[in-house]
Amino acid sequence: MRVAVVGTGFIGQAWAIVFARAGCEVFLWDADPAALNASLHAIAARLQELEKHDLIDAANARGRIQACDTLEHAVADAEYVQENLPEILDVKIDAFGELDRLAPNNAVLASSSSGLPISSFAAKLRGRERCLVAHPVNPLYLLPVVEVCGAPWTSPEVLERTCAMLERVGQRPVMVKRELPGFVLNRLQAALLREAFWLVDNGYVDVEGLDRTVKEGLGPRWALMGPFETIDLNAPGGLDDYCERYGAMHLSFGRDERPQSGVGWPAHLVQQVNAARSVILPRAELNARRAWRDSQLMKLAVHKLNQEPCSEGSTERKGT
Ligand SMILES: NC(=O)c1ccc[n+]([C@@H]2O[C@H](COP(=O)([O-])OP(=O)(O)OC[C@H]3O[C@@H](n4cnc5c(N)ncnc54)[C@H](O)[C@@H]3O)[C@@H](O)[C@H]2O)c1
Repeated sequence: MRVAVVGTGFIGQAWAIVFARAGCEVFLWDADPAALNASLHAIAARLQELEKHDLIDAANARGRIQACDTLEHAVADAEYVQENLPEILDVKIDAFGELDRLAPNNAVLASSSSGLPISSFAAKLRGRERCLVAHPVNPLYLLPVVEVCGAPWTSPEVLERTCAMLERVGQRPVMVKRELPGFVLNRLQAALLREAFWLVDNGYVDVEGLDRTVKEGLGPRWALMGPFETIDLNAPGGLDDYCERYGAMHLSFGRDERPQSGVGWPAHLVQQVNAARSVILPRAELNARRAWRDSQLMKLAVHKLNQEPCSEGSTERKGT
């Protein structure tokens, strides 16, 4: 399959790795030639890291990726186009206008947008029925979920074709059935952060304790199962038993303590949490810690690829 990757920052580079890993021919384009060139080096470095963990054949994958001088060249004959430009409405409107004009009529036009729904920038296009959001999670060659969300007029056939293609290249699509700000993943993340900031702001826990609660408690469990499966397993009779036993307790949390909308992220609170994080991790060490995170995620990806399916897991694919 021939794929165009438009915009080669963090996310465009990661999509290139995903598609090349799966055997696609990948054509990269970026408005900034320096960024395009830099992305080839960054991709090569990441491929080497992945190869160290037996997660890719770096030379083969690299051989399938090429940079293009023009957008026209990148999308010519593409079956699928993944746009990864900055999260700015006008940029997306212009880009999708060009993509709709230049890409073959049957090509899917997908955006990596984290928050802008496709209807906000593709509504007026002749080919709007082939446009959708395919929102990944960074780094997406290690975290396979992709939220797929169309506008009301996006063709169901295009949505299905996209999900099937994403499965084939090793991702795990989740269909978001109606457009909403933040889709699903970022809304879940926002709910957790809202509570985390509130707990710290009100002195119930410090920043390190809050992070420890997730990384040594909720997080490892979430690497294996979601919140519904978690509560299904946490009462003898399953999910309804859990809700019967603990539902009222859960619903009582926070009822009287704060506005339903949460507390926001006021500047003083952001500064307080940032100061605490800066003591734990000096800002100069952020990049080293990112590299550590990615290498640990690679080990987790290897573990999940080799995971044995068990009873309920028999309905799940082996691996991620
Ligand atoms: N970073 C994340 O964690 C993340 C996760 C999921 C989705 N996304 C989404 O992916 C998209 C890209 O994010 P990113 O983090 O890769 O951004 P980025 O800033 O790293 O990359 C953007 C690229 O677009 C290029 N560019 C800028 N304006 C352009 C234009 N007008 N025409 C062509 N190229 C242009 C830049 O040169 C740059 O290479 C955004 O919509 C973002 O919301 C980001």
